[in-house]
Amino acid sequence: MIRHFLRDDDLTPAEQREVLELAAVLKRDRFSARPLEGPRSVAVIFDKTSTRTRVSFHVGISELGGSPLIISTASSQLGGKETASDTARVLERQVAAIVWRTYAQSGLEEMAHGALVPVVNALSDDFHPCQLLADLLTVNEHLGDPAGRTLVFLGDGESNMGHSYLLACATAGMHVRIAAPVGYQPRADVVADAERIAAETGGSVVVGDDIDALVAGADVVVTDTWVSMGREDEKQRRIDALSAYRVTEETMAEAAEGAIFLHCLPADRGYEVDAAVIDGPQSVIWDEAENRLHAQKALLVWLLAKAAA
Ligand code: CP
Ligand code: NVA
Repeated sequence: MIRHFLRDDDLTPAEQREVLELAAVLKRDRFSARPLEGPRSVAVIFDKTSTRTRVSFHVGISELGGSPLIISTASSQLGGKETASDTARVLERQVAAIVWRTYAQSGLEEMAHGALVPVVNALSDDFHPCQLLADLLTVNEHLGDPAGRTLVFLGDGESNMGHSYLLACATAGMHVRIAAPVGYQPRADVVADAERIAAETGGSVVVGDDIDALVAGADVVVTDTWVSMGREDEKQRRIDALSAYRVTEETMAEAAEGAIFLHCLPADRGYEVDAAVIDGPQSVIWDEAENRLHAQKALLVWLLAKAAA
């Protein structure tokens, strides 16, 4: 059965746990799974720029025995001359999976509709689910099982990261808090989906603008750029609206003792986070960046096994 990973809640709580356990195994024994041996190819398509996603998928697909086919949209027919659906019809006869970083979530849905191979969201305007697998793996490494832990996200809550923290952390049974000003709070339908999942997993969801109350006692403090890709025209308005949400040493002092700091990167030091925090002792951003590799390898192994079943 073909399964896709377009949003964080495309994995059930049990499935998310399975993928994360596999990621830990693949981190310990890096070359133990080679389902792409042959080699089979995986297409990795970028409509937006990338460092971590590009490198981790390229290296990960190679380590699984496969051949990564990294495609920049500007040098392909996708976008301008050819639909996502027609592109999928061409690729699915030649590759084992399609990974796509794009703008509209609807493009990914179109790509996945009826596709004969798994389609993976490598970041859209709405979600960044591969990043959240890496983040949860990192939380597990530093704090143990994420279930029952509290994570607070400060900043642009209507971004792909804000939305993915809601869905993925609720799936993991975490208490997720989004601290964002009115106008930058997450989409109501995503909050509702996260609340529904949290009710099943024992987690909880809070969205608000009372920064002190939301940060108090959090085990994990996270933020993201205030100016996501595609939002560059709104830069000054966003800086003005979000400046109170910067993660500072004072913010970290309000969190739980032993709290960790995460950031998906790239970061704008002095804007969403102070250098003293992101480069400080509570920051685990380099583990988080490395874990993109292990988490995505596990995801691909899992999706390919489902496709072969
Ligand atoms: N975090 C992340 O997705 O980084 P890149 O934009 O460099 O891929
Ligand atoms: N929210 C950011 C994430 C970058 C990995 C963006 O979309 O640009």
